[in-house]
Amino acid sequence: MDKDIEKILFTNEDIKTAVQKLGKKLTEDYHDKNPVVVGILRGAAPFMIDLIQAMDCYMEIDFMAVSSYGDDTKSSGSVKIIKDLDTDVADRHVLIVEDIIDSGRTAQALRELFAAKNAASVKICSLLDKPARREVDAKADYVGIDTPNEFVVGYGLDFRQQYRNLPYIGVLKPEVYQD
Ligand code: IMP
Ligand code: MG
Repeated sequence: MDKDIEKILFTNEDIKTAVQKLGKKLTEDYHDKNPVVVGILRGAAPFMIDLIQAMDCYMEIDFMAVSSYGDDTKSSGSVKIIKDLDTDVADRHVLIVEDIIDSGRTAQALRELFAAKNAASVKICSLLDKPARREVDAKADYVGIDTPNEFVVGYGLDFRQQYRNLPYIGVLKPEVYQD
């Protein structure tokens, strides 16, 4: 897969450093809250796995699948629930784990959704943030790394469902999009 990558933006080392830093902060903020940590499938899976191990506190974990993108590199602007939670989050502190905040529509929709489920609190932790692309006023409460306005793949992030297993985050060569 390396041959399809034009440049590496964040090495595995950069990612690990960001995850440890987030884990430390989240441990402080959630040590007495027994949160429900909710990973958003599929993109946040690798980040979720590493992040929860960097958090030294009691917690439950669960997963949800939503879709805001088709198989393209631009947002469709709508968010659909593909798989809902199995956990009752009423009166629970919810920490949503996302791969990237792009237009902000997914983050906004998730906040509304968890508010409707009567969660005690709802916070979002995103590995990446692409502030240049924001379409709605939504942001993460915890961000690992700010990202330039480029379509990135790796460490969970995909292009047409591929490249999620790259250990780093990078930008694809233009010819890969053109196929
Ligand atoms: P938003 O609703 O526009 O903020 O989009 C959030 C979702 O779009 C993320 O969870 C990703 O699945 C996807 N996404 C946004 N930007 C990228 C990117 O650069 N690479 C891969 N997926 C992306
Ligand atoms: Mg996603």
